[in-house]
Amino acid sequence: MTTLSLEAVRAAIAQINEGGISLGDDRYVQDFTLRPDNIVGFAIRLPQISDPRRDPLINAAKTVIRDRFPEVKDVWVKVLEDPALAPPPNPAELPGTGKVRHILAVSSGKGGVGKTTVSVNLAVALADMGHKVGILDTDIYGPNVPLMFGLEDYRFTPDNFVEENGVMVVEPAFNYGVKIVSRTFTQYGSQPLPWRGPMLHGIIRQFLSAQIRWGELDYLIVDLPPGTGDAQMTLIQAIALAGALIVTTPQAVALLDAQKGLQMFLNMGVPVLGAIENMSYFVPPDLPDRRYDIFGSGGGHKTAETLGLPVLGCIPLEMALREGGDRGVPLVLSTPHSPAAQALCATAQAVREALP
Ligand SMILES: Nc1ncnc2c1ncn2[C@@H]1O[C@H](COP(=O)(O)OP(=O)(O)O)[C@@H](O)[C@H]1O
Ligand SMILES: [Mg+2]
Repeated sequence: MTTLSLEAVRAAIAQINEGGISLGDDRYVQDFTLRPDNIVGFAIRLPQISDPRRDPLINAAKTVIRDRFPEVKDVWVKVLEDPALAPPPNPAELPGTGKVRHILAVSSGKGGVGKTTVSVNLAVALADMGHKVGILDTDIYGPNVPLMFGLEDYRFTPDNFVEENGVMVVEPAFNYGVKIVSRTFTQYGSQPLPWRGPMLHGIIRQFLSAQIRWGELDYLIVDLPPGTGDAQMTLIQAIALAGALIVTTPQAVALLDAQKGLQMFLNMGVPVLGAIENMSYFVPPDLPDRRYDIFGSGGGHKTAETLGLPVLGCIPLEMALREGGDRGVPLVLSTPHSPAAQALCATAQAVREALP
């Protein structure tokens, strides 16, 4: 018989393992208490309250503790839910994503540089070229993909879910030839939700592991949240990326942030296909032959030099591009002959060629 102590209880259950969850791992087991009346308590954290491993783990722990420490009166186990503990899904095994040829992440060092505008127009341009395209909006802080597709009020309903090989899968929304999934679609009410950092992780994992019926796709474009924090890294780890695109504006500050973004991908072993320089120059609508190099970008030279990356496109500042975004009609469809639309189509072409 072992002397009863918190340490002894902890050691006694450390060998218990059920489906990858070890009670010796303090990510899963916490808050040990031993009350003066010999009641032992601890908390088990699981990805889901209803995790099938819950009861086997609790029963095994109780049996071991009672066997070793007959003086223990009772064992109280609290179960806590922590979605961040779910293992990252293997995208290849998710229904649908196995049939996706290229998953492309569109990222930016900071917000407001036009990442979503570029993602949406690239997706629509690729679809217009005859490809099967999907877009996954993972930027839950600024989810503008639905707005730019005119799907601001779209919500998944139970009708969007179908059973496939015994699992429930959701049918993406569809507009302008592109399949679209955004977390906004799962949200009721119009209030943005106050996700906190750690919470965000769990949400992202859940979101990625959500079974989405993409079907066959040539390109899946993933609009990442801006920046280089944990949320971005979790996402990047979880997705089998063919490559990343970095959207930046030519100003030095934006380029500095873009450099950090580039480094993050390189550190994680993700190939970066190139940069896209947005707000690269200005064409006055009434003087379409003029071209003002407002930020002195030299047609992408500064960006290419600073990042050491090929510049796959230079998109001008254009009022119609912003208006199209706000109106929910992407520019490449609404005004295909405008300089920005032409630049976006040329960029889509360059992205296509940058892929093996
Ligand atoms: N080339 C451009 N010309 C004019 N407005 C643009 C251009 N690129 C982006 N915008 C506008 O700038 C704002 C930020 O763009 P957005 O794509 O939402 O950036 P991000 O996703 O990087 O935060 C939006 O209002 C968008 O319409
Ligand atoms: Mg955005």
